Amino acid sequence: MTTQQHIRISDIANHAGKEVTLKGWLANRRGSGKIQFLHLRDGTGYIQGVMGVQDVDEDTFAKVKKTGQEASVIVTGIVNKEERAPYCGHELHVKAVEVVGDSAEYPIAKKAHGDAFLMDNRHLWLRSRRQNLILRVRATLVKAIRDYLDDNGFLLVDSPIFTPNACEGTSTLFETEWFDGRSAYLSQSGQLYQEATAMAFGKTYCFGPTFRAEKSKTRRHLNEFWMVEPEAAFMTLEEDMDLMENFLQSIIKTAIEKHGDELESILERDLTHLKAATEPFYRLHYDEAIEKIQELHAKEENPEVKKLLAIEWGSDFGSRHETELTKLYDRPVMVYGFPSQIKAFYFKKWDGRPEVSRSVDVLAPEGYGEIIGGGEREPSLENLISEIEQHGLDQKDVEWYLDLRRYGSVPHAGFGLGLERTVAWVCGISHVRETIPFARTLDRLNP
Ligand code: 4AD
Ligand code: MG
Repeated sequence: MTTQQHIRISDIANHAGKEVTLKGWLANRRGSGKIQFLHLRDGTGYIQGVMGVQDVDEDTFAKVKKTGQEASVIVTGIVNKEERAPYCGHELHVKAVEVVGDSAEYPIAKKAHGDAFLMDNRHLWLRSRRQNLILRVRATLVKAIRDYLDDNGFLLVDSPIFTPNACEGTSTLFETEWFDGRSAYLSQSGQLYQEATAMAFGKTYCFGPTFRAEKSKTRRHLNEFWMVEPEAAFMTLEEDMDLMENFLQSIIKTAIEKHGDELESILERDLTHLKAATEPFYRLHYDEAIEKIQELHAKEENPEVKKLLAIEWGSDFGSRHETELTKLYDRPVMVYGFPSQIKAFYFKKWDGRPEVSRSVDVLAPEGYGEIIGGGEREPSLENLISEIEQHGLDQKDVEWYLDLRRYGSVPHAGFGLGLERTVAWVCGISHVRETIPFARTLDRLNP
C-alpha cells in the first residue's frame, strides 16, 4: 500500500520506461550550460538525473544550475534502464524540477573533514551514503535479532531503564534523584529483570538502550548503547554458548544476504571473515587464552605493544589483549571460564574451581574483540548473598532478585550482545560512534 503519489528510488526498477516523480535532495550536481547531471537521493537510494537545456523550461534550468548541494527538490522524468549509469542501473531523463528548499554552502563538502567536525555535524552527516548504509545495516541487524529470538521461543519483555541498584558493578552508574530523595540509576543492563521474566515465561529477552558512565575514550565505548539480552530458565553455560553461536551466525548471515554487495562497494568491506562466521566458532578456556596471550607477549618486539600485552592469570583482558588474540582466528572465539574476581556478582562458580566463573565472552575476529558477554547464573541463595556482600552491594536493594532463588530456583543462563560493536564489525568500521544515530561519549552530548 502506498499513501503517496511519488515513488521512492529503491523501487525505481519497477518503473523503467515510465514517467515518475521523485522527492528528495540534490546530493551533488555537475555539468555545463547545456546539460546538468543531478545526483538525486531520497533516503532509499541514489539515481542520476540527466537534464538537457532543451528538456525543461529556461527558468528551471537556470534555477537548478544555481542550487546548492542538499537542496530539496521534486523531480519528474522518464526512467531509463541504463547499465552504465551510476548508482542503480537506471537514470532519470528530467522533464521538470521544483526546488522546495534551497541549500547554500552546505557544511559537509566533498573534501575530507576531520572526525570531530563530522560528529559536530552528525545531523547532516547522516545524509551521506556511507552513514546511510551503516544505519540501514543497524536496522537489518535489529530486525534479524528480534526475528531470531521471536522464532526460537523467546518472549520480548522490556526491562526498566530506571533502576535502584547496579547490575554490572557500581563504578559506572549514571545517577539521578528519585522523587523521595533516593538515588535512581540508569540501567547498565536489563539482565536481573530478565532473570525474573525467564522464571515467569521460560525464555525472554529485552532489547533497548543501556547506560554506562565509563570514562573510556576508546573506539569501542559509548556511554549510551543498545544491548539485546536473552535469558532462559534451565539453560547451562554450554547450551548458552550453543545459543550465542547459532544466534550470531543467523544474524550475520542475514546481514550478508541483505547488504553484502553494498558493504563491498560502499564501505570496501572484505567479507571473508564475516562469511567464515557462519562456520562453528572456536571455544577457548580462559586458562588457554592467557597462555596464548603470554606467548604473543613473549614474541612481541615493539616495546609499547609488549607492555600492553603483559598479563597474568586473574586479570581481565584489555582491548589490546583481545585485539591480538582474535587476530589468531578467522572466526569468532568464545573465551569461557573467566576468573570470578573480575566478573559480576551473579555468575555461578565452576564445579571444584570456585575461583573460576561460568562466564563467556564472544570475541569478534579482525581485532574487533568482545561483542557478547554472558554465562550461567548462580542459582544458590546462600552463595549469592555472600557474593553480594563481597561486591559491596546493598542486599535490601536486591531482595526481590534473591526471591528468584527462594522460590523455585533453577539453573539458568543468558547473554548480552552489544549492537553497536556488532554493527562496527559487520561494516568493518573502526569506531562505534558511526554505528548509532547520535553517539553519546565522554566528550559528546551534542547534537
Ligand atoms: O559484558 P557486558 O557488560 O555484560 C552484561 O551487561 C551482562 N549483564 C549481559 C547479560 O548477560 N545479560 O556487556 C555486554 C555487551 C558487551 O559484550 C559489549 O558488546 C556491549 O555490551 N558493551 C558496550 N558497547 C558499547 N559501549 C560500551 N561502553 C559497552 N559496554 C558493553
Ligand atoms: Mg563484558
